[in-house]
Amino acid sequence: MTALNRSQAAEAAEDDGSNGSDNPTLAAVVAARFNRRDLLRGTLAVGAISAVVGPRALAAAEPAANPFPFVELPAGSDERHHVAAGHDAEVLIRWGDPVLPGAPAFDPRRQTPEAQSKQFGYNNDFIGYFPMPGAADPAQHGLLAVNHEYTNEELMFPGLGRQDGKTAFAGMSRDLVDIEMAAHGGSVIEVRRVDGRWQVVPDSRYARRITATTPMEITGPAAGSERLRTKADPDGRRVHGMINNCAGGTTPWGTWLTCEENINYYFQGKLPEGHGEARNHKRLGIPGNLYAWGRFHDRFDLGAEPNEPNRFGWVVEIDPFDPNAVPKKRTAMGRFKHEGAAGIVAKDGRYVVFQGDDERFDYVYRFVTEAKVDTADRQANRDILDRGTLSVARFDADGRGTWLPLVFGQGPLTPENGFRDQADVLVETRRAADLVGATKMDRPEDVEANPKTGKVYVMLTNNVRRKADQVDAANPRPDNRFGHIVEITPDSGEHTAPGFAWEVLVRCGDPAIAAVGATFSSATTKDGWFGMPDNCAVDGLGRLWISTDGNSAGRTGRTDGIWAMETEGPGRGTGKHFFQVPTGAEMCGPYFTPDDTTFFVAVQHPGEADEEDPKAEPATFEKPATRWPDFDPNLPPRPAVVTITKRGGGRVGT
Ligand code: FEO
Ligand code: CA
Ligand code: CA
Ligand code: CA
Repeated sequence: MTALNRSQAAEAAEDDGSNGSDNPTLAAVVAARFNRRDLLRGTLAVGAISAVVGPRALAAAEPAANPFPFVELPAGSDERHHVAAGHDAEVLIRWGDPVLPGAPAFDPRRQTPEAQSKQFGYNNDFIGYFPMPGAADPAQHGLLAVNHEYTNEELMFPGLGRQDGKTAFAGMSRDLVDIEMAAHGGSVIEVRRVDGRWQVVPDSRYARRITATTPMEITGPAAGSERLRTKADPDGRRVHGMINNCAGGTTPWGTWLTCEENINYYFQGKLPEGHGEARNHKRLGIPGNLYAWGRFHDRFDLGAEPNEPNRFGWVVEIDPFDPNAVPKKRTAMGRFKHEGAAGIVAKDGRYVVFQGDDERFDYVYRFVTEAKVDTADRQANRDILDRGTLSVARFDADGRGTWLPLVFGQGPLTPENGFRDQADVLVETRRAADLVGATKMDRPEDVEANPKTGKVYVMLTNNVRRKADQVDAANPRPDNRFGHIVEITPDSGEHTAPGFAWEVLVRCGDPAIAAVGATFSSATTKDGWFGMPDNCAVDGLGRLWISTDGNSAGRTGRTDGIWAMETEGPGRGTGKHFFQVPTGAEMCGPYFTPDDTTFFVAVQHPGEADEEDPKAEPATFEKPATRWPDFDPNLPPRPAVVTITKRGGGRVGT
């Protein structure tokens, strides 16, 4: 038995915030729901086959042009990264590289909080690219905003090994905790492509580090709520830092949305007996006890600051073009374990943001602004995310679905159920969603709209706790180890519409193993299937690209990476392998330049041990599973951003 690595321990801890509501899981519904269009076409007889090979493969009428003509990358696992032939994949910036002027050179044996606060943080996740206004070529000069989700102290610090509740954080010191806090948050860097190669512009006036201590403003309906007040902030409107920022989004007005996910990990201690926040904290798994921060900083100790957790778990909006802009936690968008916040402008001009709450049996959300996006005046959009309607999805067995509004005073969201105002609804978004009857999903990660087709893709990464009697139409497999993707089609093509149709695009896993029940199209090769979809990107042609989290040599015979996914026509449901991360890593951040000539990806936690490999030793600073990207015996592995371009120019993946 090997010890759980950091990301696996984190996953195990997600249990703590499990959904205890009794929302129906539609146990009576047949496990395999056949494709709606097949039903309408009367082709149900082929359903049993289509469940295995994918309905669109069967429905093939005529061959269409191949949307992904690149040569597929063989799937496997080793210490390096790999990209499909004809492409270049180069490391742009690594943990410890300079971001701010005066940042010292990276020295893993002489880390300090001061150095880390000027250097690129750990575990890069979301990447957003913002073209530089006035640039000669907006696809070759811009800003990158990058999330730093969390820290792996066993890989970061010499001689430490895993630090958690089991080891009572025995090796942690104030200095190490402060380095961790400085390695969280995000970075803004200016990047430019010179002679075909991307580089970070040194000493840029836009360069910024945001950490777990950066002053931020709390805005929207929950700002000032007594439940957000602390000794340090008696008004409930100012907070220090953002934590566990996983994925996010970019807005049409040029801001970065960065999403706080597993915020429970950072809290320890006990609430005072009979405290009113007990139920609320339990629903989010607080305290999670995965970090030692509460030992050195009272605000992460529930006994000292019972309300501090309510100041985390939000979407944070940051203007990357103004390094002095105060980041704003937009409470109108709800409080839960946000994966991402990808948006699209609706036909009527309002902004629609889709959000997943990444926990087993939690929900898919949609936020619609009250105001329209002002395309002429950037400043006019400054606070439009403070007013709007948050809704949660119910997926019905007949392929229909409804967005259920979470509005104080409507339905069960009343004082009888403990909600005094909209602030209460937002602080306890999950409980509000439980009460309106949302559908419990298999860990919703990225949710992203395709501007070309109007469809919305929901990555459901896995849920090994779903039992056979909890299966429902939208979550059709018990013990869902490999996840699936749901496709939403909004009524009348309106992203603001209350209703939608939906179907399962693909059930993931190895199609060669019948018991897995995967539904990739029959055109998918042995390299083209994947498990555990996590993030996604839609390129300028409307093509869907998926990044994964949880594949490994032991689990799926392949590391994580990027797979192309056909969504339309006869090839629908075909996966194709494009990029492979080094062993132990997960793939994050997929983001294209506006012309698709560069694909930015983030390699997160390289060097972790493969938990499913019985021979794998626990990974440490001294003995990581890889020393990517430097392969220097004196350096630990380093999370890094990678640029992918097509050799000779042109659109990536063609
Ligand atoms: Fe931080 Fe849902 O992955
Ligand atoms: Ca992650
Ligand atoms: Ca993720
Ligand atoms: Ca994940």
